[in-house]
Amino acid sequence: MVEGKKILLGVCGSIAAYKSILLTRLLIKAGAEVRAVMTPSARDFVTPLSLSTISKNEVLFDLFREDTWSNHVQLGRWADIMLMAPLSCNTLAKMANGQCDNLLLAVYLSATCPVVVAPAMDEDMWLHPATRANIEKLKAFGNHVIPVEKGELASGLYGEGRMAEPEQIIAFLEQHFFFSKELTGKKALVTAGPTHEPLDPVRYISNQSTGKMGIALARELAQRGAEVELVLGPTAIPVNYPGVHVIPVQSAENMYDACVKLFPDSDIAVMSAAVADYTPVSFSSEKIKKDSGTFNLEMTRTRDILMALGKQKRAGQILVGFALENHDEVSYARKKLESKNADLIVLNSLNDPGAGFGFDTNRVTIFEKGGAEIRYDRKSKQQVAKDIVDRIIKLS
Ligand code: CTP
Repeated sequence: MVEGKKILLGVCGSIAAYKSILLTRLLIKAGAEVRAVMTPSARDFVTPLSLSTISKNEVLFDLFREDTWSNHVQLGRWADIMLMAPLSCNTLAKMANGQCDNLLLAVYLSATCPVVVAPAMDEDMWLHPATRANIEKLKAFGNHVIPVEKGELASGLYGEGRMAEPEQIIAFLEQHFFFSKELTGKKALVTAGPTHEPLDPVRYISNQSTGKMGIALARELAQRGAEVELVLGPTAIPVNYPGVHVIPVQSAENMYDACVKLFPDSDIAVMSAAVADYTPVSFSSEKIKKDSGTFNLEMTRTRDILMALGKQKRAGQILVGFALENHDEVSYARKKLESKNADLIVLNSLNDPGAGFGFDTNRVTIFEKGGAEIRYDRKSKQQVAKDIVDRIIKLS
């Protein structure tokens, strides 16, 4: 949360400078304190008066004004974060080379706090080898770079180079620096990924889950202070986050055993894995040879982990399940809430574009035991994880 944080906003001469006004407004609304420093050319795009009115602080842009000297060292030490948004190509090049011909650069060079930059420029400038090298230099200095977005650019061309939207910039700050630790001392159990139901030594039955959503949830819970046990089905995504302990499993049965063992000691359990509902009745230790005609496979139901934990649940434990539906979504989600004794069901609709298996984005509706139904916009899976964890914190 940015509430109470001191943000030193550096504004450079770029058409995206107009967004610095909205960014400042959002930061102030969220309870941050903002002091802005502009480069001389930034004043061609937004006025110091607009920024000082919105930030409720004087805006600085001169190293020397009248007979006074602006104390750049003090500014760099005052801030919790120095945020350059937008960062122009010119200021980027100067930062990469340690130049110091204006107040903003002097503040940057003397800042002792973390520095975050949100570049903004046309695609050709962004992709130029000189710019690439300057960005790499900034990263090597330990600065944090907020990825640019694709879209319509000042030149009228379409491409990479747009500054991230103010909401995304704030989300970046929260995710990397200002996450609150409301879950300190809590233990969370998360399932993620698909399961593999083995047929023979070389074959299995599975589904298209990648585990992205569950991994994002495990990461978010850990960032908020929880100690997380992530029971993870087979996935190609590497997981290495502080506070997240991974228990790799293969089949639905392995996942069931791990969860039933861990649940009594958990305060929160989030079942986001796409667990196979059926598994082959028998496993052939020898590779099955093909034959003429059809091949019939007999399968049996797996045990429902969410249902089993719902039966074991004691007062104070929070149980979260997922539902993936493509018709009668609301009524199925509500039924699941009841039948599995969950406190919260996260519904993914298969009808929503950009939601579901493999996508980096998701669009969910959360159904809560008390009757609340909250519909969210399409967002990155990490942002969706944040929304879900916010609701979990409200319930705990
Ligand atoms: N789940 C589980 N164990 C299983 C199957 C599912 O824990 N063996 C969990 C999932 O992780 C998810 C929720 O249950 O949180 C999904 O519920 P489920 O009834 O399996 O959903 P669908 O398979 O989509 O339901 P249906 O077959 O009724 O369409």
